[in-house]
Amino acid sequence: MYTLKELESIVNRCHRCALSKTRTNVVFGEGSDKAVLMFVGEGPGYHEDKIGKPFVGRAGELLDNMLKAIELSRDDVYIANIVKCRPPNNRNPFEEESKTCIEFLRWQVKIVDPDIIICLGAVAARNIIEENFRITQNRGLWYKKGKFNIMATYHPAALLRDISKKKEAWDDFKSIKAMYTKINKEMKG
Ligand code: URA
Repeated sequence: MYTLKELESIVNRCHRCALSKTRTNVVFGEGSDKAVLMFVGEGPGYHEDKIGKPFVGRAGELLDNMLKAIELSRDDVYIANIVKCRPPNNRNPFEEESKTCIEFLRWQVKIVDPDIIICLGAVAARNIIEENFRITQNRGLWYKKGKFNIMATYHPAALLRDISKKKEAWDDFKSIKAMYTKINKEMKG
């Protein structure tokens, strides 16, 4: 089994798909290597590509605020993406790119070993939960896959575009907090 550091150095040298040709930095992911709760986005945007960290633009600020609202911070969780390199012009990753890169996410999940995985947006949900996942219909529902409790909610960028989605997103975050509290209690007891 790799450590996150070892895996990161492998991913930093990856040239398995064409996204590696246009990236500035690989955005491996960050957070606690013992996190109970993992968030998975789609892929780096402009700011993430420049800095090499996930969710550092406006969507990231909103994610930080939503975490704060459920009394968590980035240090308590782990944040990663389906693809580790920015798709040009922020297009959705192509299927081959996601399928190739998701192997690295599987390693991250093996190493961190979270109990809860939250898909941020449809791209993450379609790669993790079900290929035809409809975010408007099935967000907020819990799926059990092996040991993992998995839910999809709106991508924070979608919330920035459409403020009317915020109420549903807040319901989802309250449900995430309840699951997080329940699992922590079970681990202690
Ligand atoms: N959007 C994502 O899906 N991931 C990031 O890291 C940033 C923006």
